[in-house]
Amino acid sequence: MKQFSITIAGGGSTYTPGIIMMLLDHQKEFPIRKLCLYDNDGDRQEVIAKACEILLREREPGLEFGYTTDPETAFTDVDFVMAHIRVGKYAMREKDEKIPLKYHVVGQETCGPGGIAYGMRSIGGILEILDYMEQYSPNAWMLNYSNPAAIVAEATRKLKPNARIINICDMPLSIMTRMAGILGIPEEELDIGYYGLNHFGWWTWIKDKEGNDLMPALKEHVRENGYDSEKEGMRHPDPSWRDTFRKAKDVYATDPDTLPNTYLKYYLYPDYVVEHADPSYTRANQVMDGREKEVFSAAREIIEKGTAKDCRFRKDEHAFYIVKLARALAFNTKEKMLLIVPNRGAIENFEPEAMVEIPCIVGKDGYEKIAQGRIPQFQKGLMEQQVSVEKLVVEAWAEGSYQKLWQALILSKTVPSASVAKKILDDLIEANKEYWPKLK
Ligand code: NAD
Ligand code: G6P
Ligand code: MN
Repeated sequence: MKQFSITIAGGGSTYTPGIIMMLLDHQKEFPIRKLCLYDNDGDRQEVIAKACEILLREREPGLEFGYTTDPETAFTDVDFVMAHIRVGKYAMREKDEKIPLKYHVVGQETCGPGGIAYGMRSIGGILEILDYMEQYSPNAWMLNYSNPAAIVAEATRKLKPNARIINICDMPLSIMTRMAGILGIPEEELDIGYYGLNHFGWWTWIKDKEGNDLMPALKEHVRENGYDSEKEGMRHPDPSWRDTFRKAKDVYATDPDTLPNTYLKYYLYPDYVVEHADPSYTRANQVMDGREKEVFSAAREIIEKGTAKDCRFRKDEHAFYIVKLARALAFNTKEKMLLIVPNRGAIENFEPEAMVEIPCIVGKDGYEKIAQGRIPQFQKGLMEQQVSVEKLVVEAWAEGSYQKLWQALILSKTVPSASVAKKILDDLIEANKEYWPKLK
C-alpha cells in the first residue's frame, strides 16, 4: 500500500494536534510515512511540535517527523499540504471583531468587515504557500481550511487558476452531526443536497441511505429549537455556539423550504448579533482563554512529563473531514463531500465564475461536482450580493484599490451605509498596516 507524506502549514495551529491524532487513527486506511509541520512563527510552532514529536515517537515510531520554518524543507517530497494558517494570529482576529463593533456592526471572524479584513491578510499568505508547494512538490494537493475560505477560494480561482488546491469548511459537517444526533441516527446515514457560498448555504434535501425523507422531522425540530438539543451529549460546551445553534430557528423561518447554515445569522439578524455582543470581550477572547490555552497547556504538559501517555489532545470532526478528503484523493474512495469549487453551471442560475459550496464526488483525479439545479430568488439575491463582496475584496487586494475595498464593505449586508463602511475601513487600514497591500 502506498504511504504518504504530509505537511501541515500553520503547524502552530490549535487544530494541529487533533489532525495528527486523527492521522494516527487512520494509519491502516491511509498510511503516512512522513509528517512535517511548517509555520512562520517558530516559537509558537515549537510547543505543538515538541509535544507531537513525543506522541508520535510513542505511537508510530516508524514515521518520519519534522518541523521547520524553512519552506524548502517543508514543501519538498510532499503529497498533501494541509493548510490552516491564521495570518496575524488571534491578536488580529480580536481587532477584526472589535473594530466593526465600535460602529455597532457585526464583528466576526469570517463574516462582514472582520472577514473582509482577514481575507486581505490571508490571500498573500496562502498564495505564498501555494508557490512553495508548486516549486518543491508540483504534484501535491493543498487541502485548505485557512479562513476566510470563501475569499481564499476566490483569490486562488482568479489569481492562480491552475493551483492544485481544494478549499473546505467543517461547519456543514458539524451541523449534520447535530442533525444526526437530533434524529438519533449515525451521521454517515445522511445523504444531502446543499448549495451556497462558504458560510452562506442551505440544505435542499436530506435523506437516509435507504432514501427516506428526513426533512420533515428535522424541520419540526429546527422550527422550535434550531440545531440546539437537550439530548445527552449534544449540549455544546461554549455558550456562544449554543446561542448560534439556537438562533438557526429564526434563520430557518426566513425560508422554511430549506435548512440553513448557522453562519447566515450574521447576515439576516445582524442587529441581534450586535446587541448580544460584548465589544470588550469577543469570540477571539473566548478562544484565547479557551481552546488556545487548553491546547497549549496540553502540549506543555506532554513536554514536561516527557510522555503523551494520557495526553489531553483530542481529535474531532474538523480533523475527520480533512483526513477523509486526503484519503479520498489518495485511494479513489469516490466519497460525496461538500467542497468549495468553481460554479460553472453547477448552480444553473448563478454566476459561473464564482466559488460555491456544493456536494462533490472525490477520487484520485480530484472532484466531480454534483449539479444542484436552479435556486430560488431569495437565495440568489443574497448570494449575488455576498459573492460580489468576496470578488471585490480579491480585486482590491490584487489592484491595491481603496475604492473596491470600500465597495466591498458597502455591499456587505452587515454594513448599514457607505459612511459607516468608510469609517470601519479607515480603522481597519490602520490596524492592518503590517499585513495588507498599500491601497490607493
Ligand atoms: P492559530 O492562530 O492557532 O494557528 C494558525 C497558525 O498559522 C499560527 O501558528 C500562525 O503562526 C500560523 N501562520 C500565520 N501566518 C502564517 C503564514 N503566512 N505562513 C505560515 N504559518 C502562518 O489558529 P486556529 O484557531 O488554529 O485556526 C487556524 C486556521 O484554521 C484559521 O484560519 C481558522 O479560521 C481556520 N479554520 C477554518 C475552518 C473551516 O471551516 N474552514 C475551521 C476551523 C478553523
Ligand atoms: C467553524 C467554522 C470555521 C471557523 C470556526 C470558528 O468551525 O466552520 O470556519 O473558523 O467555526 O470557531 P471558533 O471556535 O474559533 O470561534
Ligand atoms: Mn468554516
